[in-house]
Amino acid sequence: MGKKIAVLTGGGDCPGINPVIRGIVRRAIKQGYLVIGIKNGWKGLIEKNTVPLDLNSVSGILPKGGTILGTSRTNPYKEEADLKRAKANFKSLGIDALIAIGGEDTLGVAHRLYKDGFNLVGIPKTIDNDLSATDRTFGFDTAVNIATEAIDRLHTTAESHHRVMVVEVMGRHSGWIGLEAGIAGGADVILLPEFPSDIDEVCSLIKKRHGRGKTFSIVVAAEGAKFKKGREVLQQEKLDAFGHVRLGGIGQILGEEIEKRTGFETRVTVLGHIQRGGSPTAYDRVLGTRYGVKAVELAIEGKFGQMASLQGNEITSVALEKAVGTLKTVPEELYNIAKIFFG
Ligand code: F6P
Repeated sequence: MGKKIAVLTGGGDCPGINPVIRGIVRRAIKQGYLVIGIKNGWKGLIEKNTVPLDLNSVSGILPKGGTILGTSRTNPYKEEADLKRAKANFKSLGIDALIAIGGEDTLGVAHRLYKDGFNLVGIPKTIDNDLSATDRTFGFDTAVNIATEAIDRLHTTAESHHRVMVVEVMGRHSGWIGLEAGIAGGADVILLPEFPSDIDEVCSLIKKRHGRGKTFSIVVAAEGAKFKKGREVLQQEKLDAFGHVRLGGIGQILGEEIEKRTGFETRVTVLGHIQRGGSPTAYDRVLGTRYGVKAVELAIEGKFGQMASLQGNEITSVALEKAVGTLKTVPEELYNIAKIFFG
């Protein structure tokens, strides 16, 4: 019997996952491997919920958003009984290598399982682009394009109604989406978690701009952005299985303060999960495909405990340990470029 590769997708869904799954299945079948999908992330390993994957199962999924395998934010290391079941199922399913597609949480579990003696390979997935040890996560390009298009559309109303439009984007504790969509969309102020801002400075930038005759402004705020004297704004204090709070709400607070302090009519748009939905860009389809193929090759070569990684334009691999160690945040050098266009 051929060797068996399993694949699962964990954490938030993300455009480009299906191209990754397709890449894995096509490459693995070429090698004579059997492929199974584990449904709904680590939850599926605990519940032994699997599906066979063949050429037909991945046909037509390249342009589809989301994940055909489903996902969850389940952490098998939270409950001893879950971990025992997950490990027992790994063995009884006869899995020779498991490819985990996920962000810091999913890959953190992959790393721990690897250290516990299981054959794991990782693929970096997140719209937030906050994983170190790779230059780009897949999904980020699509999210930036969606957010940029939204900013372009909001420009119309901003200009026609002479308003300040505040756009809140995702990204958790890193400001990559805010930075890139803000620059691409021509934002007049961008607030990022890495650089706590001062509301008076934000308002004076907007006033300065209006002082030279402009009658509207676009402000982009990453959901994790904070004020110098404050902390991140939370949508929900309750922690998820990996200890994360739910961020959100900075846009509303910012909008109210701007209107109060400047007197300019202000509206707020929260892009939310729209940034994670729909068809992946061509870039993410190609990057996802390359990651999927590379992960299978790592498994074939027995290079476990590794994550496929983009370094420059080359797909290579790094130890999972490195990938989940520290968050990749926006460097000051890039924020300084954005700041040239403020006000
Ligand atoms: O990590 C991806 C992400 O979309 C973050 O940008 C955001 O903070 C979070 O997931 C939202 O998670 P959920 O889908 O659980 O609301």
